[in-house]
Amino acid sequence: MSPVHTLTAPWQGEAPTPLNPDTAFNGFICAHVLHALERLGLLGRLETEGSVEVPSFCREHQLDQAVVHALVSAAESFGYLAVSGDRVRATRTGEEVRQAIGFFTWGVGGYHDVFANAAAVARGERRFGVDLHRDEGMVALGSAQADSALMRHLLDQEISRLDFTTLVDLGAGVSERVSRLVKARPGSRGIGIDISKSATELGAETVERYGLRGTVEPVCADVLDILFNDHRVEGADEADVVMSFMFLHDLLVDPARRDQVIPRLRAAFPKANTFLLGDTTVRPRNGGDTLPVFSSGFELAHALMGVPIYTREAYEELFAKGGMHLRSAVPFGAPHTYLFVLEAA
Ligand SMILES: C[S@@+](CC[C@H](N)C(=O)[O-])C[C@H]1O[C@@H](n2cnc3c(N)ncnc32)[C@H](O)[C@@H]1O
Repeated sequence: MSPVHTLTAPWQGEAPTPLNPDTAFNGFICAHVLHALERLGLLGRLETEGSVEVPSFCREHQLDQAVVHALVSAAESFGYLAVSGDRVRATRTGEEVRQAIGFFTWGVGGYHDVFANAAAVARGERRFGVDLHRDEGMVALGSAQADSALMRHLLDQEISRLDFTTLVDLGAGVSERVSRLVKARPGSRGIGIDISKSATELGAETVERYGLRGTVEPVCADVLDILFNDHRVEGADEADVVMSFMFLHDLLVDPARRDQVIPRLRAAFPKANTFLLGDTTVRPRNGGDTLPVFSSGFELAHALMGVPIYTREAYEELFAKGGMHLRSAVPFGAPHTYLFVLEAA
């Protein structure tokens, strides 16, 4: 396997297993409380102001005081908030959770229906994508929160070492990353490709916000069509650097085409000197008795959606077989998530 840049001890996590029923039940409720306080803006306000006077916060945001009081009281019981009269502040754990809040947005906000219907999925009564859906907006928001808290600085370090004029992001969502990176590299241009029409439309807004109209182009297209059906996106084959984040596993769903994806990526982007492919892997089952945030949810959610995910070893084998040389596998902030830095062999 490729060398690991930094210690990944945090990826072992601190949740002791077995989770006894008290911990499991309270964790379930606590996750919902944290998500609610984040959505209400209370966690953000605590971050900027240090403490919050709850009744005036409720008046300002037209919130039901009794409900907010119950949420605050629950968060106090879980050890996330300290309450003194009407005023609350975050405890140390409450401050620490901010780094990880994206995982709660992702899990509670994005996947609550999917997890809650696991038995129905197992019985074949509900099917993901047919009569069972995730909240795409919350999944996107959770990813963005995790990116800015945990990943962005690591990507910036890697990209600063690379030469590029044309940057292409596959599965680009709202083209935030490609816009940010192009903005930081004067003279470069970018293309953000995503299958979702609404994400591409929002991408046009992102580009406007960065003042990059004509420099970054959000394009609505299926990357599988580019790889397998000769679909051409104007200018994309000029890319010097191609990246994708939390998307590679989506390209690998069809077992018949899986081994062809990497060679086709090389062929579709013949001038690319580097591919930066970030994705979360299946955590190694090494007999440890603790768990980190996110991994168990990522693995179960994908099983319920019927989308295979891969170990780090499986990805590295796929790259090698597909003719890409792995320069490094950079631990990428979120547990068991890597930024694979690859070049055409
Ligand atoms: C998990 S999201 C990641 C979004 C973004 N890269 C990020 O890190 O926040 C996966 C994205 O891939 C897009 N996608 C899924 N299948 C696709 C395909 N075949 N071609 C292009 N985009 C696709 C989805 O619409 C979604 O925006």
